[in-house]
Amino acid sequence: MAKISSAVFCSHVPAIGAAIDLGKTADPYWVPLFKGFEFSKQWIKQAKPDVIFLVYNDHATAFDASIIPTFAIGCAERFPPADEGWGPRKVPDVIGYPELAAHIAQSVILDEFDLTIINDMKVDHGLSVPLSLMFGQPEAWPCRIIPFPVNVVQYPPPTGNRCYNLGKAIRSAIEKFDEDLNVQIWGTGGMSHQIQGPRAGLINKEFDNRFLDRMLSDPASLAKIPHIEYVREAGAEAIELVMWLVALGAMGPNPRLVHRFHHVPASNTAVGHLILENQ
Ligand code: DHB
Ligand code: FE
Repeated sequence: MAKISSAVFCSHVPAIGAAIDLGKTADPYWVPLFKGFEFSKQWIKQAKPDVIFLVYNDHATAFDASIIPTFAIGCAERFPPADEGWGPRKVPDVIGYPELAAHIAQSVILDEFDLTIINDMKVDHGLSVPLSLMFGQPEAWPCRIIPFPVNVVQYPPPTGNRCYNLGKAIRSAIEKFDEDLNVQIWGTGGMSHQIQGPRAGLINKEFDNRFLDRMLSDPASLAKIPHIEYVREAGAEAIELVMWLVALGAMGPNPRLVHRFHHVPASNTAVGHLILENQ
């Protein structure tokens, strides 16, 4: 049967993708950031996932104001990188897993979570930057990837509690798939940041570190954080952290901490990164 072996949590700042693509990873500004992912790149080589279920948000790239799905699941064979204004990043196409994605869609929708089924989509930095951080610059991504966009751009995003419970439904769906697959679930975005308005540049290291602590010590309590607390304490775009709760909800009891990293700044954002393994 398919099994979720581990979870990766990771910010997805577009400037990180640009630094990788433009060969700036050895610049003094970027060295401490990329150092935090050296262990992770080695770890994932031996973790060897067959599939990544990748929870991220589209930043008005594939979707615009004309259609805003709260939760969507990428069921296509292939997802090319989107043009976000400077041409598409020169990263490999994402190769999907239509059979597993359709199975998860069926199980999760019948579990009463409404998903939008997507059969044609381009993917933006929300998905491609975490892949670059974990895998570097390969010719092809080394496994299949199911993109799972969540709306955190247009109010109202889903509550953290709904995201956490959705994670549990995703876990139950994956565990019913009748093929031996090593599945990872990734939650991306965050941590504290605000990219517009009078509070642009807001960072809250204490909030972020408390959040990282509670990922292990009291995961269920994170699901109770109301939207306003993310926005007030950690900036408008910190609401992206509800996507981490989808991945956290999909993990088993008492996962083992493999790696923890937090760094400020990356452009205008605090970068957080955690790897958890199921026991
Ligand atoms: C920026 C965009 C993001 O989507 C994000 O999560 C962090 C920063 C940016 O435009 O700088
Ligand atoms: Fe983002």
